Order: sequence, then structure tokens, then C-alpha cells
Amino acid sequence: MADAAGGGRNLRVDGDRLWRSLMDMARVGATEKGGVCRLALTDLDKEGRDLFVRWCEEAGCTISVDRMGNIFARRPGRNPDAQPVMTGSHLDSQPTGGKYDGAYGVLAGLEVVRTLNDLGVETEAPVEVAVWTNEEGSRFAPAMVASGVFAGAFDLEHGLSRPDPEGRTLGEELERIGYAGDLECGNRELAAYFEAHIEQGPILEDEEKTIGVVSGGQAQRWYEITMTGQEAHAGPTPMLTRRDALLGAARAVDAVNRIGLSHQPGACATVGMLDARPNSRNVIPGSVFFTVDFRHPDDSVLSVMDGELRTVCEAIAADIALELEFEEIWHSPAVAFDAACVEAVRSGAKECEYTYMDIVSGAGHDACYVARVAPTGMIFVPCEGGISHNEIESATSEDLEAGCNVLLHVILEFAGPARRGSSWA
Ligand code: GLV
Ligand code: MN
Ligand code: MN
Repeated sequence: MADAAGGGRNLRVDGDRLWRSLMDMARVGATEKGGVCRLALTDLDKEGRDLFVRWCEEAGCTISVDRMGNIFARRPGRNPDAQPVMTGSHLDSQPTGGKYDGAYGVLAGLEVVRTLNDLGVETEAPVEVAVWTNEEGSRFAPAMVASGVFAGAFDLEHGLSRPDPEGRTLGEELERIGYAGDLECGNRELAAYFEAHIEQGPILEDEEKTIGVVSGGQAQRWYEITMTGQEAHAGPTPMLTRRDALLGAARAVDAVNRIGLSHQPGACATVGMLDARPNSRNVIPGSVFFTVDFRHPDDSVLSVMDGELRTVCEAIAADIALELEFEEIWHSPAVAFDAACVEAVRSGAKECEYTYMDIVSGAGHDACYVARVAPTGMIFVPCEGGISHNEIESATSEDLEAGCNVLLHVILEFAGPARRGSSWA
């Protein structure tokens, strides 16, 4: 039988059960190409949440939901007053998302709870598994908004009033699916927060390492830009008098790419959404809305990129006689995770005898906000070809199990001392 003494060094999760849970969750919103479409606060998101809640209740956890719809499943510890150790991630996905982005971190947390139950391990501190609302920022911008409210980065009203493209607010949709909880957001102490996630980039695979010891996350800035010219007939309107908004946007898309390329290594620059009006083949576009996503590990470089974007958009607008609306809607600064949490992930990987390396997260994660209010760390595992935000996203059962074993170790280290043979079974 597994020995829980000494921090539970020999304990291991059930990788097959973790895999089955991931595959069961992936059926909720499954797409034909093998991915998942479970946009935040849709009926499918509710179905995924309900499934998670049922599994957690079956595992003996109590459930609470806060006013941003964040779900917390709590496994009691020996000391109910001890600060809980929290883990988790998100269940919402991109429109053409994969099976693992977010769901892995949530279900790895559940697998840790189930393992502790199976082995009869009682921890000193409670262990909580969190599901954060709307991590992706795909339906309601910005990303990570609900962990942001939890951490005090946004006020509650800002979070609840985020609109989707049809004008429905995050708060209305939370009410509609029955996940507008009454727990106050945040304002409580955690012993630590750990999030397991697929890397979503190619580094671990290229370096042939199983575990990414995440030292922090890069800075991000999101923009919404509208260029307005004049709709006009595609035939009679001379080329030289046109105020073509899509031409302006096209130049801006190219400029965004060039800004990204000119700040290597490190910069990422993406136009992911573009909406041309009236979108008719024989009408010169009168207005175009588009988004820009800038990232860099160094905030000061991101500020330079910000300045370049503003300058180039103004120059394009002036050249084509367009009106320019330019709004920065989100700025999430670079974050360094807690040294003790990072070290715990490293020693967890070492103890389990997995290959590992330090890594900076290219993606945004709820951990980046939670790090403002609790000691935080992250565990990455490889995904095939580094592909994510894509229905073909893929990860091996072995790597997912390895990340979950490291999660078990760090949770036991912070929630311990673990004791086996208690009444918890
Ligand atoms: C979230 O997935 C992000 O990094 O944009
Ligand atoms: Mn994610
Ligand atoms: Mn994502």
C-alpha cells in the first residue's frame, strides 16, 4: 500500500481514470473534428459544469459558487480553519478548441481528490478544485475575467457587465444557466494555488521534457480597433477617391505582424477577429472592426509595441481619410510565480523521476491573476506539435498522468502532513 508519510512521495494518481474523465468531459460540446466547442456560459458550459459538480459531490466534496460563477469543490482537511490549497483551471473552450486546454487542470484536480480518497489520506488543510468562469475570453472579453475579479484586478460590476457579441452580459448568462452564486468573490486566504495545463507551445516536446516548471507568464495587451471610411459602389467609385476601411485594416494587419517580427525573440502579435461592414462583394467596406493581441515576457517591450501600434494606426487612418477608434481593452502584466511554489513543482518532478525544465507560459492562465493573492505555481505537460486552440490538440495519457502526479505531490506538500488510514475513505 502507498505510504503517505514524508509528504506522500510514493503516492500516484490513477492515470486511466484521469483519461476517462477527460474523454467523458470532451463529449460535452464535442466537434466533428475531434475537438470541443464549449463557449463560456452556454448550455454546453452548464452541462460541463454540472458533470464536474456531480463528480465532485460523488467524491465527497462540498460545492460553492461565487458571484462570478467560479465553482469551488472542497475536500475537507483535518483542520477546517487551515488555509486551503487550491488547484483548478477552466472548462470553457475556444469555438474550435481542444479536449485538454483547461479541462486538464480541472480534472487533474479532481483526480488528486479521488486518489486521496482511495488511499485514505487525510490532509491537514482542505483541498479545493476551482473551475474559473470564462478563462478563454472568446465569448466575453477579456480572458481570465473571473479569476481577475477573484484577485481584485477587476471589480465585480465590470466582470458581470462584459458583453458577448450579441450584447448579452456575462451576468445575465450566469443567471440563465443557474451559476450566479452568492459567495463573495475572493477575499480569502489560500495556502497556495497550483494549476496543471498543457503547454500549448512546442518547447517541451522539442526539448524532450515531460514536465514544464512554469516560472511565470508573459504580459498581454488586447485592443479593439474600428476604422470607418465610406461605403460606396464598387463600380462607379474611382480608386483615388475611395475611403476603403478594409484597405486600412489590411495595412494594419500587416503592420501588427511586422511589429511582432521586429521584437524577436519573445513578441507575439495577432489579429484574430475582423468584421467588415457591410460585407457585400460590390460595396467598398465602410467600416471594419478588428482585434489585436500583443504579448511579450517583458512589459517594457510590450509598451514599445503599444506605441508603435498607435502610431501606425493613426498614420494609416490619415493616409486613407478614415476615422479611427482605438481602445486598449485589457492589459495583463507579466507575472513571476512564487519561488517556493515553483521549487515545489521542480522537486515534485524530480521525486517522480520525470524529465523537467523551467519554462515561461506563452498563454494566459487563471493562475496569472490568482498569483496576485496567493502563492502560485503551474505545471505544464507537452501537447503534440505544440498545437492548441485547435480541434486537433492532442496530449498523451502518460504525460497527462505525469503532470497530475506532480500536482498530487505539490498539493500534499502544501496541504500536509498527509496521514493515511484516517476515517476518510
Ligand atoms: C487564453 O487561452 C489565452 O492565452 O489567450
Ligand atoms: Mn487554458
Ligand atoms: Mn485557451
